[in-house]
Amino acid sequence: MNSEPTPDRILQTGLGFWPSKTLLSAIELGLFTELARGARSLGELQALLGLHDRGARDFFDTLVALGFLERKDGHYANTVETGLFLDRAKPSYIGGILEMANSRLYGFWGGLTEALETGLPQNEVKSGGPGLFETIYSDPARLEGFLAAMTGISHGSNIAIARQFPFADYATFADVGTAQGDLAAQIALANPHLRGVGFDLPEVGPIFEEYVAGVGVAGRVEFVSGSFFDRELPKADVILMGHILHDWDLPVKKMLIEKAYAAVPAGGALVVYESIIDDDRSKNAFGLMMSLNMLIETPGGFDFTGADCEGWMKAAGFQSTRVEHLVGPDSMVIGIKAT
Ligand SMILES: C[S@@+](CC[C@H](N)C(=O)[O-])C[C@H]1O[C@@H](n2cnc3c(N)ncnc32)[C@H](O)[C@@H]1O
Repeated sequence: MNSEPTPDRILQTGLGFWPSKTLLSAIELGLFTELARGARSLGELQALLGLHDRGARDFFDTLVALGFLERKDGHYANTVETGLFLDRAKPSYIGGILEMANSRLYGFWGGLTEALETGLPQNEVKSGGPGLFETIYSDPARLEGFLAAMTGISHGSNIAIARQFPFADYATFADVGTAQGDLAAQIALANPHLRGVGFDLPEVGPIFEEYVAGVGVAGRVEFVSGSFFDRELPKADVILMGHILHDWDLPVKKMLIEKAYAAVPAGGALVVYESIIDDDRSKNAFGLMMSLNMLIETPGGFDFTGADCEGWMKAAGFQSTRVEHLVGPDSMVIGIKAT
């Protein structure tokens, strides 16, 4: 029997920015990092975070009600999840992407209607001037925040790719647009026989090198600097591109896939991983919203389906293609060059 229609899901989604911003402000204030040192009373937390009397109790109790904090005998503490994933002092910290969502995306998404009407980005490049990466990379703090955010959003998929892709058949890899280098590091950690490079813009180099050294794979993974608009891609058995193609319009997507085809030997592979939209474009809401995020963040970027990407790979010459799910909304599309 059909249940009566209710407005619940409409209201929940429509006001979804309330729980979202409450969590983002808690991360901005460093609440979970503070509580990782031990449970605190309302008064202690207010003093530590410099909060006004008026909203403090409602704020912490909202986080309890949302399941991001626990409260016992008037003392607030992290949950297992927030203690593990939102404490800046832990390697398992995934807050980088949420810090960027708070400092950049939250405001920019306010311009979604205008972006839908004009087709123009709503971020730093809105008022003209240099591209997204040049703009962000001109400020060392924003550069570090952006690269850490990429690790935050990709870490789960990076671990899955390192274990799921048949690297045993190959000896070298190149991660194009490697950012902090987490994918390159995870692949090297899980596949001791491999050597690889991370390829990215020059500003990224020192941050990449520090990261891979910190993970203990600096001896087998090195940084190659350059722009994929100005040069060929580094030659390797396997070329990987994570959240790269979605940044650009169709002609650039095709150019990058053609450059990857030229960079791998016979039998070599291209691995594209993103929040790949389902072919029916009706289920992977995150992938579709990531495409709206590209509308807001870039002049021509958009996300795509597995079938789209397989078609572009075949057009570039890749003989066999397949799509494999990774984790959450993410999947990889694999193209193999004929032997
Ligand atoms: C959205 S991030 C993706 C980072 C990482 N692959 C991931 O999935 O988490 C895009 C990356 O492309 C790099 N990039 C942008 N323009 C580039 C260019 N012209 N040549 C090489 N890398 C570039 C950026 O520096 C950044 O690291």
